[in-house]
Amino acid sequence: MAVTLTSYLFQQKGELPHVTDELVLLLNEIAAATKEIAGKVRKAGLLGVLGSAGKVNVQGEEVQKLDELANEILLESLKSCGKACQITSEEVEDCLVVSESGYAVAFDPLDGSSNIDVNVSIGTIFSVHKDSVMKPGREQLAAGYVIYGPSTMMVLTLGNGVVAFTLDPESGNYLLSHPEVKLPEKGKIYSINEANRDKWTSDGLRRFIDFLKGEKYTLRYVGSMVADVHRTLFKGGVFIYPADRKNTSGKLRLLYEASPMAFLVEQAGGLASTGEKPILDVVPEKLHQRVPVILGSRWEVEKCLEFMREG
Ligand code: AHG
Ligand code: MN
Ligand code: MN
Ligand code: MN
Repeated sequence: MAVTLTSYLFQQKGELPHVTDELVLLLNEIAAATKEIAGKVRKAGLLGVLGSAGKVNVQGEEVQKLDELANEILLESLKSCGKACQITSEEVEDCLVVSESGYAVAFDPLDGSSNIDVNVSIGTIFSVHKDSVMKPGREQLAAGYVIYGPSTMMVLTLGNGVVAFTLDPESGNYLLSHPEVKLPEKGKIYSINEANRDKWTSDGLRRFIDFLKGEKYTLRYVGSMVADVHRTLFKGGVFIYPADRKNTSGKLRLLYEASPMAFLVEQAGGLASTGEKPILDVVPEKLHQRVPVILGSRWEVEKCLEFMREG
Protein backbone atom coordinates (compact mmCIF):
# COMPACT_ATOMS: atom_id res chain seq x y z
CA MET A 1 0.00 0.00 0.00
CA ALA A 2 1.58 3.30 -1.10
CA VAL A 3 2.21 5.83 1.68
CA THR A 4 0.49 9.16 1.05
CA LEU A 5 1.97 12.48 2.22
CA THR A 6 -0.77 12.77 4.82
CA SER A 7 -0.14 9.33 6.30
CA TYR A 8 3.61 9.98 6.27
CA LEU A 9 3.10 13.25 8.18
CA PHE A 10 0.89 11.53 10.77
CA GLN A 11 3.55 8.79 11.18
CA GLN A 12 6.10 11.55 11.86
CA LYS A 13 3.73 13.12 14.38
CA GLY A 14 4.42 10.17 16.65
CA GLU A 15 8.19 10.52 16.25
CA LEU A 16 8.82 14.30 16.22
CA PRO A 17 7.42 16.53 18.98
CA HIS A 18 7.27 19.58 16.69
CA VAL A 19 5.06 17.77 14.16
CA THR A 20 1.64 18.79 15.45
CA ASP A 21 -1.82 18.42 13.88
CA GLU A 22 -1.54 22.10 12.91
CA LEU A 23 1.79 21.59 11.12
CA VAL A 24 0.37 18.53 9.32
CA LEU A 25 -2.62 20.64 8.22
CA LEU A 26 -0.35 23.46 7.07
CA LEU A 27 1.91 21.15 5.01
CA ASN A 28 -1.12 19.46 3.49
CA GLU A 29 -2.44 22.89 2.54
CA ILE A 30 0.86 23.77 0.85
CA ALA A 31 0.77 20.40 -0.93
CA ALA A 32 -2.76 21.06 -2.17
CA ALA A 33 -1.71 24.48 -3.49
CA THR A 34 1.21 22.93 -5.39
CA LYS A 35 -1.15 20.41 -7.01
CA GLU A 36 -3.26 23.33 -8.23
CA ILE A 37 -0.12 25.09 -9.48
CA ALA A 38 1.00 21.87 -11.22
CA GLY A 39 -2.36 21.79 -13.04
CA LYS A 40 -1.86 25.35 -14.32
CA VAL A 41 1.82 24.73 -15.23
CA ARG A 42 0.90 21.68 -17.30
CA LYS A 43 -1.74 23.60 -19.28
CA ALA A 44 -0.10 27.02 -19.23
CA GLY A 45 -0.09 27.36 -23.02
CA LEU A 46 -3.85 26.72 -23.11
CA LEU A 47 -4.71 29.07 -20.23
CA GLY A 48 -2.96 32.13 -21.61
CA VAL A 49 -0.70 32.25 -18.52
CA LEU A 50 2.61 32.22 -20.35
CA GLY A 51 4.68 35.33 -20.73
CA SER A 52 5.09 38.51 -18.75
CA ALA A 53 2.50 40.01 -16.38
CA GLY A 54 3.85 43.42 -17.39
CA LYS A 55 5.09 44.47 -13.96
CA VAL A 56 8.33 44.50 -11.96
CA ASN A 57 8.51 42.94 -8.46
CA VAL A 58 10.40 43.97 -5.34
CA GLN A 59 13.37 41.98 -6.67
CA GLY A 60 13.51 44.21 -9.75
CA GLU A 61 12.48 41.24 -11.91
CA GLU A 62 9.86 41.24 -14.65
CA VAL A 63 7.01 39.18 -13.15
CA GLN A 64 5.70 36.32 -15.26
CA LYS A 65 1.95 35.55 -15.32
CA LEU A 66 2.64 32.13 -13.76
CA ASP A 67 4.66 33.77 -10.95
CA GLU A 68 1.59 35.81 -10.11
CA LEU A 69 -0.86 32.91 -10.45
CA ALA A 70 1.24 30.58 -8.28
CA ASN A 71 1.62 33.36 -5.72
CA GLU A 72 -2.16 33.95 -5.56
CA ILE A 73 -2.86 30.21 -5.17
CA LEU A 74 -0.39 29.85 -2.29
CA LEU A 75 -1.51 33.07 -0.55
CA GLU A 76 -5.17 32.00 -0.80
CA SER A 77 -4.42 28.51 0.56
CA LEU A 78 -2.37 29.76 3.48
CA LYS A 79 -4.84 32.47 4.43
CA SER A 80 -7.85 30.14 4.24
CA CYS A 81 -6.24 27.30 6.24
CA GLY A 82 -5.69 29.70 9.13
CA LYS A 83 -2.51 27.96 10.32
CA ALA A 84 0.02 30.54 9.15
CA CYS A 85 0.78 33.49 11.46
CA GLN A 86 3.12 35.14 8.95
CA ILE A 87 3.40 34.75 5.16
CA THR A 88 6.47 35.82 3.17
CA SER A 89 6.58 35.51 -0.62
CA GLU A 90 9.23 36.37 -3.19
CA GLU A 91 6.47 38.23 -5.02
CA VAL A 92 5.22 40.34 -2.07
CA GLU A 93 7.29 43.24 -0.73
CA ASP A 94 6.21 42.97 2.90
CA CYS A 95 5.64 40.08 5.27
CA LEU A 96 1.90 39.47 5.71
CA VAL A 97 1.29 39.23 9.46
CA VAL A 98 -1.88 37.29 10.29
CA SER A 99 -1.35 36.71 14.03
CA GLU A 100 1.32 36.90 16.72
CA SER A 101 2.26 33.22 16.95
CA GLY A 102 2.00 30.05 14.95
CA TYR A 103 3.71 28.87 11.78
CA ALA A 104 5.63 31.42 9.71
CA VAL A 105 5.86 30.40 6.05
CA ALA A 106 8.23 31.76 3.40
CA PHE A 107 7.88 30.64 -0.20
CA ASP A 108 9.10 31.13 -3.73
CA PRO A 109 5.84 30.46 -5.56
CA LEU A 110 7.43 29.80 -8.93
CA ASP A 111 11.18 29.21 -9.12
CA GLY A 112 12.89 29.29 -12.49
CA SER A 113 10.62 31.85 -14.16
CA SER A 114 13.01 32.27 -17.08
CA ASN A 115 12.24 28.64 -18.01
CA ILE A 116 8.42 28.84 -17.95
CA ASP A 117 7.97 29.78 -21.61
CA VAL A 118 10.42 27.14 -22.84
CA ASN A 119 8.77 24.27 -20.93
CA VAL A 120 11.79 23.46 -18.77
CA SER A 121 11.40 22.20 -15.17
CA ILE A 122 10.35 24.87 -12.65
CA GLY A 123 9.25 24.61 -9.04
CA THR A 124 7.90 25.97 -5.77
CA ILE A 125 10.09 26.27 -2.65
CA PHE A 126 8.78 26.60 0.94
CA SER A 127 10.16 27.04 4.45
CA VAL A 128 8.33 26.82 7.81
CA HIS A 129 9.52 28.43 11.06
CA LYS A 130 7.85 28.85 14.46
CA ASP A 131 6.41 32.40 14.86
CA SER A 132 8.83 34.25 12.56
CA VAL A 133 10.91 33.56 9.44
CA MET A 134 13.56 36.07 10.59
CA LYS A 135 15.59 33.31 12.29
CA PRO A 136 18.61 31.24 11.27
CA GLY A 137 17.66 28.48 8.87
CA ARG A 138 18.89 25.88 11.34
CA GLU A 139 15.68 26.55 13.32
CA GLN A 140 13.34 25.62 10.48
CA LEU A 141 10.58 23.17 11.40
CA ALA A 142 10.14 21.98 7.82
CA ALA A 143 11.37 22.83 4.34
CA GLY A 144 10.77 21.49 0.88
CA TYR A 145 10.17 22.07 -2.76
CA VAL A 146 7.96 20.77 -5.53
CA ILE A 147 9.55 20.31 -8.95
CA TYR A 148 7.18 20.46 -11.93
CA GLY A 149 9.23 18.22 -14.19
CA PRO A 150 8.50 15.01 -16.14
CA SER A 151 7.07 13.96 -12.76
CA THR A 152 5.69 16.36 -10.18
CA MET A 153 7.71 15.57 -7.05
CA MET A 154 7.73 17.00 -3.54
CA VAL A 155 11.05 16.75 -1.65
CA LEU A 156 10.60 17.38 2.08
CA THR A 157 12.46 17.46 5.37
CA LEU A 158 11.02 17.76 8.88
CA GLY A 159 14.52 17.74 10.35
CA ASN A 160 14.98 13.95 10.42
CA GLY A 161 16.27 13.21 6.94
CA VAL A 162 14.85 13.84 3.46
CA VAL A 163 11.99 12.05 1.71
CA ALA A 164 10.44 12.48 -1.73
CA PHE A 165 6.88 12.02 -2.94
CA THR A 166 5.68 11.66 -6.51
CA LEU A 167 2.31 13.07 -7.53
CA ASP A 168 0.13 10.21 -8.83
CA PRO A 169 -1.94 11.74 -11.66
CA GLU A 170 -4.64 9.04 -11.26
CA SER A 171 -5.31 9.44 -7.54
CA GLY A 172 -4.11 13.05 -7.22
CA ASN A 173 -2.07 11.97 -4.17
CA TYR A 174 1.56 12.66 -3.38
CA LEU A 175 2.84 9.08 -2.80
CA LEU A 176 6.13 8.26 -1.04
CA SER A 177 8.55 7.25 -3.81
CA HIS A 178 11.92 7.87 -2.11
CA PRO A 179 11.85 7.03 1.64
CA GLU A 180 15.44 8.20 2.12
CA VAL A 181 17.21 10.76 -0.07
CA LYS A 182 20.97 10.71 0.64
CA LEU A 183 23.42 12.93 -1.20
CA PRO A 184 26.39 10.98 -2.67
CA GLU A 185 29.65 11.83 -0.79
CA LYS A 186 31.18 12.95 -4.09
CA GLY A 187 29.78 13.50 -7.59
CA LYS A 188 31.00 14.21 -11.11
CA ILE A 189 28.86 17.25 -11.96
CA TYR A 190 29.31 20.96 -11.32
CA SER A 191 26.50 23.47 -11.83
CA ILE A 192 27.17 27.20 -12.18
CA ASN A 193 26.38 29.94 -14.70
CA GLU A 194 29.85 30.25 -16.22
CA ALA A 195 28.74 33.25 -18.32
CA ASN A 196 29.42 35.28 -15.15
CA ARG A 197 32.94 33.80 -14.66
CA ASP A 198 34.82 37.06 -15.17
CA LYS A 199 32.53 38.85 -12.68
CA TRP A 200 32.96 36.37 -9.79
CA THR A 201 34.62 38.17 -6.89
CA SER A 202 36.64 35.07 -5.90
CA ASP A 203 39.76 34.07 -7.89
CA GLY A 204 39.78 30.87 -5.83
CA LEU A 205 36.39 29.98 -7.29
CA ARG A 206 37.72 30.34 -10.83
CA ARG A 207 40.63 28.05 -9.90
CA PHE A 208 38.20 25.55 -8.32
CA ILE A 209 36.09 25.36 -11.49
CA ASP A 210 39.26 24.85 -13.58
CA PHE A 211 40.32 22.11 -11.12
CA LEU A 212 36.99 20.30 -11.60
CA LYS A 213 37.39 20.49 -15.37
CA GLY A 214 40.81 18.86 -14.92
CA GLU A 215 39.05 16.13 -12.91
CA LYS A 216 36.80 15.53 -15.93
CA TYR A 217 33.61 16.79 -14.22
CA THR A 218 30.68 17.56 -16.49
CA LEU A 219 28.66 20.79 -16.40
CA ARG A 220 24.88 20.78 -15.97
CA TYR A 221 23.06 24.11 -15.47
CA VAL A 222 19.26 24.32 -15.90
CA GLY A 223 18.79 27.85 -14.58
CA SER A 224 15.95 26.78 -12.24
CA MET A 225 17.40 26.41 -8.74
CA VAL A 226 14.87 23.69 -7.95
CA ALA A 227 16.02 21.59 -10.94
CA ASP A 228 19.73 22.14 -10.28
CA VAL A 229 19.38 21.34 -6.58
CA HIS A 230 17.15 18.30 -7.30
CA ARG A 231 19.79 16.83 -9.64
CA THR A 232 22.52 17.60 -7.09
CA LEU A 233 20.57 15.87 -4.29
CA PHE A 234 20.10 12.73 -6.37
CA LYS A 235 23.39 12.60 -8.34
CA GLY A 236 25.82 14.52 -6.12
CA GLY A 237 28.28 17.21 -7.18
CA VAL A 238 28.07 20.93 -6.50
CA PHE A 239 25.67 23.78 -7.31
CA ILE A 240 27.01 27.33 -6.98
CA TYR A 241 25.47 30.78 -7.34
CA PRO A 242 28.38 32.96 -6.17
CA ALA A 243 28.84 36.62 -5.35
CA ASP A 244 29.90 38.66 -8.34
CA ARG A 245 30.80 42.30 -8.94
CA LYS A 246 27.15 43.06 -9.91
CA ASN A 247 25.42 40.92 -7.24
CA THR A 248 27.82 41.28 -4.31
CA SER A 249 25.64 38.96 -2.17
CA GLY A 250 24.85 36.64 -5.05
CA LYS A 251 21.38 36.39 -6.60
CA LEU A 252 19.51 33.77 -4.58
CA ARG A 253 17.27 34.87 -1.73
CA LEU A 254 17.96 33.58 1.77
CA LEU A 255 14.51 33.01 3.24
CA TYR A 256 12.76 31.15 0.42
CA GLU A 257 15.57 29.77 -1.74
CA ALA A 258 18.96 29.35 0.00
CA SER A 259 17.75 28.50 3.51
CA PRO A 260 15.16 25.79 2.69
CA MET A 261 17.50 24.23 0.12
CA ALA A 262 20.38 24.32 2.63
CA PHE A 263 18.20 22.55 5.22
CA LEU A 264 17.35 19.81 2.70
CA VAL A 265 20.97 19.42 1.56
CA GLU A 266 22.38 19.18 5.11
CA GLN A 267 19.60 16.76 6.10
CA ALA A 268 20.57 14.62 3.08
CA GLY A 269 24.21 14.53 4.25
CA GLY A 270 25.63 17.37 2.18
CA LEU A 271 26.92 20.90 2.91
CA ALA A 272 25.55 24.36 2.09
CA SER A 273 27.77 27.43 2.56
CA THR A 274 27.76 31.14 1.70
CA GLY A 275 31.51 30.76 1.13
CA GLU A 276 32.09 32.20 4.59
CA LYS A 277 29.68 30.27 6.84
CA PRO A 278 26.98 27.61 6.69
CA ILE A 279 23.84 29.11 5.12
CA LEU A 280 21.79 27.72 8.02
CA ASP A 281 23.76 29.92 10.45
CA VAL A 282 23.04 33.21 8.66
CA VAL A 283 20.89 35.48 10.85
CA PRO A 284 18.42 37.20 8.49
CA GLU A 285 18.44 41.02 8.51
CA LYS A 286 16.18 41.83 5.55
CA LEU A 287 13.15 39.93 4.24
CA HIS A 288 14.44 39.59 0.67
CA GLN A 289 18.16 39.52 1.39
CA ARG A 290 20.39 37.53 -0.92
CA VAL A 291 23.31 35.21 -0.07
CA PRO A 292 25.92 33.44 -2.16
CA VAL A 293 25.19 29.69 -2.40
CA ILE A 294 27.65 26.78 -2.59
CA LEU A 295 25.83 23.51 -1.90
CA GLY A 296 26.05 19.79 -2.62
CA SER A 297 28.30 16.82 -1.84
CA ARG A 298 30.65 17.28 1.13
CA TRP A 299 33.79 16.60 -0.91
CA GLU A 300 33.13 19.26 -3.55
CA VAL A 301 31.85 21.93 -1.15
CA GLU A 302 34.84 21.48 1.18
CA LYS A 303 37.23 21.54 -1.80
CA CYS A 304 35.58 24.73 -3.12
CA LEU A 305 35.91 26.45 0.27
CA GLU A 306 39.58 25.39 0.39
CA PHE A 307 40.27 27.05 -2.99
CA MET A 308 38.33 30.17 -1.95
CA ARG A 309 40.26 30.46 1.34
CA GLU A 310 43.51 30.54 -0.64
CA GLY A 311 42.11 33.72 -2.24
P1 AHG B 1 13.07 32.92 -9.62
O1 AHG B 1 12.58 32.42 -10.95
O2 AHG B 1 12.25 32.42 -8.45
O3 AHG B 1 13.23 34.42 -9.60
O4 AHG B 1 14.50 32.28 -9.37
C1 AHG B 1 15.41 32.26 -10.40
C2 AHG B 1 16.76 31.94 -9.85
C3 AHG B 1 16.99 30.45 -9.62
O5 AHG B 1 15.88 29.65 -9.94
C4 AHG B 1 18.14 30.11 -10.54
O6 AHG B 1 19.07 29.29 -9.89
C5 AHG B 1 18.74 31.46 -10.88
O7 AHG B 1 17.70 32.40 -10.79
C6 AHG B 1 19.31 31.47 -12.27
O8 AHG B 1 19.91 32.75 -12.42
P2 AHG B 1 20.75 33.07 -13.77
O9 AHG B 1 19.74 33.06 -14.88
O10 AHG B 1 21.36 34.40 -13.49
O11 AHG B 1 21.80 31.98 -13.91
MN1 MN C 1 11.69 35.76 -9.48
MN1 MN D 1 13.55 31.30 -7.24
MN1 MN E 1 10.26 32.83 -8.06
